[in-house]
This record gives sequence, structure tokens and C-alpha cells, in this order.
Amino acid sequence: MTRKIGILNSGGDCAGLNTVIASVVKFGSTLGYEFVGFEKGWEGILNPPMYRELNQTNVKGISFQGGTILRTANKGRFAGKVGDGQHNKIPDEVLQEAKSNLDNLGVEGLIVLGGDGTLSAALQLAEYGVNIVGVPKTIDNDLSSTDQTFGFSSAVDVVVEALDRIHTTASSHERTFIVECMGRGAGWIALTGGLAGGANAILMPEFDFSIDGLIAHMRKRREEQSYSTIILIAEGAKIDQKSSMKGTGESHELRYSGASEALMEEIESRVPGEFELRNVVLGHTQRGGSPNSEDRILAKRYGVAAMEAYDRSDYGSMVCLKNGRMTICSIADATHEIKNVTKETFQYDVAKKLNIFMH
Ligand code: F6P
Repeated sequence: MTRKIGILNSGGDCAGLNTVIASVVKFGSTLGYEFVGFEKGWEGILNPPMYRELNQTNVKGISFQGGTILRTANKGRFAGKVGDGQHNKIPDEVLQEAKSNLDNLGVEGLIVLGGDGTLSAALQLAEYGVNIVGVPKTIDNDLSSTDQTFGFSSAVDVVVEALDRIHTTASSHERTFIVECMGRGAGWIALTGGLAGGANAILMPEFDFSIDGLIAHMRKRREEQSYSTIILIAEGAKIDQKSSMKGTGESHELRYSGASEALMEEIESRVPGEFELRNVVLGHTQRGGSPNSEDRILAKRYGVAAMEAYDRSDYGSMVCLKNGRMTICSIADATHEIKNVTKETFQYDVAKKLNIFMH
């Protein structure tokens, strides 16, 4: 009997999802597997199931498209984490419903493309006897156990292109721009994008920063004849120990927004009129669009590696990149805690030595 596997992506989209889907289906078909793609994240395996057959023909040409042909959702009854990354126990009846639907469709296991929350949910379903292999997806690059998630590099490219554009208008007007990028708990996009894009200050969720120190940095730049400044701030960075977020954190995910505006107001209130300030929120431009070449290759590698892991019966594992090589780790280890920026990373070290203000 032909073995049938489900493919499911859940949580926020990112560039490269379609690339992984196509590569799993193309390679898995040569190993003799059949595939269904569940739609709208975990909602697709609950009642009424939403799915479509995936085969070598209908995944042709999707690899370079952004978003996901399966659509996605990051809310609903199947949340493995809620609020500010708190583990959440999915009710037994929901897990049972998912398991019965998979059994009825003859689907023996799932390849799950997701970040921290999605893979935490996958682990709970694995306890019901569903064979699961995870693939690390998130623009935030904050999943433990892997050196890089797919989607991150393309998001960084968006930040770099934006900073290149902001630089010319900022210097023409001698303005200070505060550019807000994604990164609710981890500052990888800010640090990497800021370093590549020539930000003069990079503010991350990991490090509390001194607003007076930042103002002193801006003044010093002006004394040195640098009349414009670019401050790149991650959405989860704290201003005066406070994050800019909306939502309760109980029944739905918190929404981060407003860090750049809050910082702009704070600087203006401390030194009124001294700097001409503007803010730009990059938001979901960082998630949309086609994967760049690095993400295309990474996503293809992840897709093939996930299929190989599944075929070896390495269930409960996540494929990961370690020192340039594809390997596997346990989903439990990967979702135990998020991977934060530390002062030991080479990016932090280089930024510090290049006099980029960070805290
Ligand atoms: O986790 C990925 C991410 O893009 C975060 O960086 C961001 O805070 C969040 O998703 C935004 O989610 P939503 O699409 O629900 O606004």
C-alpha cells in the first residue's frame, strides 16, 4: 500500500514555504510516497478537514513564489504556545479530532513547517501516535538547535534594501530615522539587517538600552559631521523597560507594534526640537515576496532532509542546519527555549567594534 503523508504549515508565513513544500513532494514522490497538503495551518486537520492532493505536477513552478499555496493561520484551537511564548496544553478532544481525521484520510504522518508555536503543537499530536518531522520556519531565526531558519535571509534583505533607501533621504534632509523591523523576542533580524545595512544604532529585545546614551551617540555623530542617523529597532525592544505591544497574552498572540513611534516620542520629549525625527515601520514587507537565493537553497535542502528523516522513521525530530551541514535534533529540544542574540555572537562583536550603538 502506498504510504501517504500530510504537509502542513502553520503560524506566520515567510519566503521559502512553497520551496520546502515542492521539494518534499518532488523528492518524496520518487521514494514512492503520496502527499496531501492541509490548508490554513492546523485548522486544516480539524473538522471539517481542508486539504488538497499534492503531486509532482501541481507543485511545479511554486518554488519561487512567496507566501504559501496552503494558506496559513496563527490562531485557533490548536495553539501550542500563546501570548508571549507560553506553552499551552491543547485539549485532548482537539488532538483526538485531528488524529481521527488523519486516520480517515489514510495519512500516517505529517511534515510540519513551523516555528516555535507550531512545532510545540506538533509534539502534542505526536503523543497521539502521529509520525511527525518538523522543518524550522520563521523570519525571526529564533529557533534553538538550528543555525538558520528559512525565511530569515529574505527578511534581512528587505531590511537592508529599506535602509539603503532611508540612508539617502536621511542624509539629504539631515534627519534621524527610526526604522522598526520584526523580532518580538529575538533581535536577529535587527542585528543582521542593521549591520549589513549600515545602521548607526541597533536596538534589540535582548538588551535594555539607555535613551540618554542613544542621544549622546547622536550628538557625538553630529559633532563628527555625520548629520543623519539611522536607528534600527526590533519591534520587541523595550523602551524604558516597557515593550510596545497589544493584546492580553491569554487567548491570542500578543501583537507588537509602535516601538519606533514610542522611541521617537521619548527622544523628542527629552530633547525637544534638537533632532528632526521620522519613523518607518517595515512590518509584513519582511515576510512577503519571493525567497532570495540563500533561502531557496536552504528551503530545498530542508525539504529533502525532512523527507529523508521521515523515510528513516526519525519521527519527533526537526531537521536543522549545524555548521553548514544538515542534521536532525529533537523537536522537544528545538522548542524548549528561543535562541536569543548574545554578546558572544560575531555579529554583536563586529557591531560593537564598529561603534554601532546597542545599549
Ligand atoms: O514570528 C514571526 C513574526 O513575523 C514576528 O516577527 C512578528 O511579531 C509576528 O510574526 C507578526 O505576526 P502577525 O502576522 O500575526 O501580525
